[in-house]
Amino acid sequence: MKSFGIASIAAAALSGALFVTSVTADLPPIVIKGSHFFFENGTEFFIRGVAYQQDVNSNGTTSTTGTFTDPLADSAGCARDIPLLQELGTNTIRVYAINASLDHSACMQMLQDAGIYLLQDLSNPSSSINRNDPTWTTDLFADYAAVVDAMANYTNVLGFFAGNEVSNDVANTNASAFVKAAVRDMKSYIKTKDYRTIGVGYATNDNADIRIDLADYFNCGDAADAIDFWGYNIYSWCGDSSYTVSGYAQRTAEFANFSVPAFFAEYGCNTVQPRVFTEVQAIYGENMTGVWSGGIVYMYFQETNDFGLVTVSGDTVTKLPDFTALSKQLALATPSSTNSADYVVTNTVAQACPATGADWSAASVLPPIANADVCSCMVSSLSCTAATDLSANATATLFSYVCGLDKSACEGITTNSNTGVYGAYSMCNSYQQLSFAMDQYYKNQNKVSTACDFSGQAKIQSGSTSSSCSSLLSQAGSAGTGVVTTVPTGTAVSGSSGTSTKTSAAGAVIVPRFDTGLLQLGAYLFAAGIAGAGMILL
Ligand SMILES: *[C@@H]1O[C@H](CO)[C@@H](O)[C@H](O)[C@H]1NC(C)=O
Ligand SMILES: *[C@@H]1O[C@H](CO)[C@@H](O)[C@H](O)[C@H]1NC(C)=O
Ligand SMILES: *[C@@H]1O[C@H](CO)[C@@H](O)[C@H](O)[C@H]1NC(C)=O
Ligand SMILES: *[C@@H]1O[C@H](CO)[C@@H](O)[C@H](O)[C@H]1NC(C)=O
Ligand SMILES: *[C@@H]1O[C@H](CO)[C@@H](O)[C@H](O)[C@H]1NC(C)=O
Ligand SMILES: *[C@@H]1O[C@H](CO)[C@@H](O)[C@H](O)[C@H]1NC(C)=O
Ligand SMILES: *[C@@H]1O[C@H](CO)[C@@H](O)[C@H](O)[C@H]1NC(C)=O
Ligand SMILES: *[C@@H]1O[C@H](CO)[C@@H](O)[C@H](O)[C@H]1NC(C)=O
Repeated sequence: MKSFGIASIAAAALSGALFVTSVTADLPPIVIKGSHFFFENGTEFFIRGVAYQQDVNSNGTTSTTGTFTDPLADSAGCARDIPLLQELGTNTIRVYAINASLDHSACMQMLQDAGIYLLQDLSNPSSSINRNDPTWTTDLFADYAAVVDAMANYTNVLGFFAGNEVSNDVANTNASAFVKAAVRDMKSYIKTKDYRTIGVGYATNDNADIRIDLADYFNCGDAADAIDFWGYNIYSWCGDSSYTVSGYAQRTAEFANFSVPAFFAEYGCNTVQPRVFTEVQAIYGENMTGVWSGGIVYMYFQETNDFGLVTVSGDTVTKLPDFTALSKQLALATPSSTNSADYVVTNTVAQACPATGADWSAASVLPPIANADVCSCMVSSLSCTAATDLSANATATLFSYVCGLDKSACEGITTNSNTGVYGAYSMCNSYQQLSFAMDQYYKNQNKVSTACDFSGQAKIQSGSTSSSCSSLLSQAGSAGTGVVTTVPTGTAVSGSSGTSTKTSAAGAVIVPRFDTGLLQLGAYLFAAGIAGAGMILL
């Protein structure tokens, strides 16, 4: 923490202590210039990273339990492991999921003291963008923002990942639209909160069909919407491979003109055991350092997937042969670096957005900014709202029913990332979305009272619009088909990572966020004709 050293001195002075033995400074922040990372003093920074988390992989699958262990809230674990990370020559760890409500100060200080930076993923197993049913919502925004809030003050935070391997083959490339919306909104949130400039990036898998389109998509268009760095999870160097056989040469050529830093966000193929890590000399050698900023070895802990550098049992850590091999290779790696002042940025042009087609289905137009103010303003303005005590299943059924009766009632809440057409309220929670659809239906029925009933599952209210809401609502348009460009105020965010219910503006408990998936599944089943005949399809 920023004030730790000063506070220690002050405390020592106040208590009359004569000697201050160990006051350590916080690490200097890492800054981005062009496609490289630098210390503030101008020396280039290469990531010598290790993935550090047990039993979690925020790769876009939603875990059934949603539980995970936050390694940065485990100070005993940090005290046990950080000396070993130092011994390896690690200057960065990647952590896939933290619980924003826990205290991370002890581990973060130990990392500062050890000269180790952090790359932190923003999602967690109970709060992430689902590749099979992608959304970017105000609930996810609040959870991701809570992670930013928890970490932004630490100067050794190198950056955030807004997603990991979410789109991982041609069938789910449309999920990338929502992940890029998360990148955009978290970058904007960091600015709104006046935090230090901290980059937001994405970590991709290495699928030959989509790797180029993915990198182009996240880099293209307005820089404010694009990634600040690109992480590549790459497992193509197995055993004592070579620069060309591994595909590294080809990947390096592909990224030669990328306009932001790129690095390996995971590496360390384990199909040949024990691992010899000869790729380390390539990654930090002259073929690659002009293009790549180092990499992160997957991973510290030995688990059933057999990627560990050590086995851990309680307080005891045992080094595996991979630890020794990696440590030797990293010690031999002496990348020659560019000094920031001498570095003339030549990669100034972003890649072109990929065209939609057989292998790529995400349009360059992104989903709406997940601005919770827009949703609460909308609900206040309605004449008909959903009952606040509906079960997730009842909500899903009603959603299909209303949209089936009146397709136009749902334009403001539907999403299509292939066409890039998004309802302005499609980022709201399910209670808010259902209320909007019911209200549209009610209005389309000229407000006959029977049109706001749905067997007692909706109710009439006298809607009102405060002056602070009028601009937001007019941007959204009466049918919700407009585009709201106003960013959230920042102070309105009420992140509560890990809780499964949210409270609406009116104070009512509403359905869990993961029911948004259920809703859309309902709509999908309905559209596929499974819900029965006689209704107008979505
Ligand atoms: C810049 O700072 C880093 C980190 O403190 C240090 O390793 C490096 O030697 C410094 N470079 C110069 C030129 O002082
Ligand atoms: C994603 O992570 C989960 C949990 O570790 C794992 O079971 C699953 O196989 C992973 N999926 C992919 C596509 O990597
Ligand atoms: C970050 O620092 C600011 C200013 O010192 C302080 O108000 C805020 O509480 C800190 N946040 C956290 C999460 O420590
Ligand atoms: C650098 O590239 C050359 C040419 O492909 C190759 O022969 C050499 O082994 C590479 N160096 C490393 C360290 O991989
Ligand atoms: C980068 O290089 C590739 C070919 O390697 C080319 O297709 C692409 O247009 C270039 N992009 C920019 C922004 O120069
Ligand atoms: C809700 O719907 C799901 C999927 O159709 C079903 O498995 C589940 O039993 C339902 N739950 C309740 C409480 O009706
Ligand atoms: C994404 O693509 C899948 C598969 O084609 C489709 O079912 C889904 O509706 C699409 N989602 C969006 C938001 O466009
Ligand atoms: C986060 O920590 C809080 C406090 O210990 C706990 O109630 C909550 O369940 C945790 N969330 C997750 C997702 O583990």
